[in-house]
Amino acid sequence: MPKIFVTRKIPEAGISKLKSAGYEVEINPADKVLSKDELISYLKKGKYDAALVLLTDKLDADVFQAAGPQCKIFANMAVGFDNADIEAAKKAGIMVSNTPGVLTNTVAEHTFALMLAIAHRVAEADRFTRAGKYHGWEPMMLLGTDLSCKTIGILGLGKIGSRVAYHAVKGFNAKAIYYDVKRDENFERELRATFRATPEEVLREADFVSIHVPLLPATHHLINAERLRMMKPTAYLINTSRGPVIDEKALAEALQNKIIKGAAIDVFENEPAIEPALLKLENIILTPHIASATEATRDKMTELAAENIIAALSGQTPPNLVR
Ligand code: GLV
Repeated sequence: MPKIFVTRKIPEAGISKLKSAGYEVEINPADKVLSKDELISYLKKGKYDAALVLLTDKLDADVFQAAGPQCKIFANMAVGFDNADIEAAKKAGIMVSNTPGVLTNTVAEHTFALMLAIAHRVAEADRFTRAGKYHGWEPMMLLGTDLSCKTIGILGLGKIGSRVAYHAVKGFNAKAIYYDVKRDENFERELRATFRATPEEVLREADFVSIHVPLLPATHHLINAERLRMMKPTAYLINTSRGPVIDEKALAEALQNKIIKGAAIDVFENEPAIEPALLKLENIILTPHIASATEATRDKMTELAAENIIAALSGQTPPNLVR
């Protein structure tokens, strides 16, 4: 019976799928991230045929080597796969898959939750109210910014970036501009969106900049002090992609010095650590990497990871093989 290792407790849906396929499933009994040594020791001992892994698992050559020649696939329960060294996996003869598509709506919704919350000062207003500071309606109290009819700038036009643009245009009558390494003329026609040849042009024009790029050497610190200075002082920055895309110290300084109006981020440069200066600011909203965290979506992510394992162990190409 093929044996699967799951690196941490996950929603049951994917586990049931693996068990129904006739596999033996072993789950890390401690509900915590395994250290590299612990992961290697599990893999060496268990001689698994596949592993269902998380974005908090760092998958390098040592880890793939430890998995052994019988191991076919590491199915990452995330759309992003910057936690895995894909070349090292290939060298070890192990496939890696991800979970695109099933989380698109949820991440786009969370992006809007952040965008609207920062522009309408929701978290700040909640803190204000709980602190007993509300003594009656005031014409000038906690004034925010509308999203409607503004320019939204999308950096990275993948599935999630396009869905965010769709909601902004269809739901808020916003104007969409975008930068991506690839131009998408269908998208432009559908949403009357316009392409910008550089991220800088998007940063200069947009009232709301929403980041949806993968983490690559080319996108590390895509947003740095210099680029923050290109943004309008009235603009907001939203990030639901990966933390290291933003230089967090530079963001803290930009927010302190009112270089931009506000930011709302779900991901951090050195997770789970957060730049301490950010925690002191009112003009930022911070959520703990939960953009895909709805019950339904997390179920679907585990199911898709399981489907990739089932395909790999049946001798097929996994539907979401990362190449
Ligand atoms: C979450 O960050 C994911 O990549 O799915």
